[in-house]
Amino acid sequence: MFLEGKTALITGAGSGFGQKMAVAFAAKGANLVLNDINESGLEETRDLVLKQFNTQILLVKADVSNSEEVNEMAKKTFETFDNVFLLVNNAGIDGGLYTALKAKEEVYDKVFAINVKGPLNVTKAFFRRMKRQKQFHPISGKIINIASTAGTPNGHNPMLGIYSASKAALIAFTRLFALELGPSNITVNAISPGVFLTPIYNNDPKLIRQFLETRKVKIPIDKIGEAEWVADLAVFLASPTADYITGQNLIIDGGMTISINKL
Ligand SMILES: NC(=O)c1ccc[n+]([C@@H]2O[C@H](COP(=O)([O-])OP(=O)(O)OC[C@H]3O[C@@H](n4cnc5c(N)ncnc54)[C@H](O)[C@@H]3O)[C@@H](O)[C@H]2O)c1
Repeated sequence: MFLEGKTALITGAGSGFGQKMAVAFAAKGANLVLNDINESGLEETRDLVLKQFNTQILLVKADVSNSEEVNEMAKKTFETFDNVFLLVNNAGIDGGLYTALKAKEEVYDKVFAINVKGPLNVTKAFFRRMKRQKQFHPISGKIINIASTAGTPNGHNPMLGIYSASKAALIAFTRLFALELGPSNITVNAISPGVFLTPIYNNDPKLIRQFLETRKVKIPIDKIGEAEWVADLAVFLASPTADYITGQNLIIDGGMTISINKL
């Protein structure tokens, strides 16, 4: 139980990957701070976790794009827990299907505010306290950013133009944070999922298949991903086995990005 006595904060924890990660971290002994803008989603995740594990959970409704709300979340977190070992920047939106140049200003403002400024707000609100967590020697804390294959050079999706650019920015921030926080024994990595069955795709495999066919994209391991697999990868990054991994973007996509040659 390598997360025993450690707190994991997950943004966007009311649905999809966030919900699965909450369960997976609790299974390793973590206490949880669950954040989302969707209160009923948060309650659903809490109930799901408590059905299986007896862990301490704080729910915080806050918009990650709003730094005041995020700072308030940090305050509440440290009123309840004495540490945040794991910070998972998972909240994100796709903003709809537009090419980069056809998206409206309100779309790119919103997508960048949640997908890029959000993780920056959250990391800024927590990193100082994470740096001082020497009790967890040799690693004081870990940050995991949930990016996307759309943010990688092989995976840019023209119809998710703004989303692709926002996730590329998050991958860049992952490296920058890793450089800045490495000397304080904090690791920072990104996970880039390909296509997974979550509410972002209405949990609809048909919709995903159509989407892949339109783009002539093949997944060599011919399966649509299951959200638990991303949660398992996050558990690996959170584990001591991954203590020497930082600044990396781990792609989990069944080989999709190696098979894309026509964009
Ligand atoms: N599902 C996929 O195939 C896939 C692939 C690649 C990357 N991703 C990324 O994984 C992450 C999670 O996606 P998911 O598929 O679980 O989607 P999801 O829609 O099921 O979950 C996202 C959660 O984020 C919350 N959220 C949205 N805006 C927020 C805000 N401003 N502040 C706080 N919470 C907010 C939503 O309410 C929702 O509960 C996202 O960053 C997404 O871009 C998903």
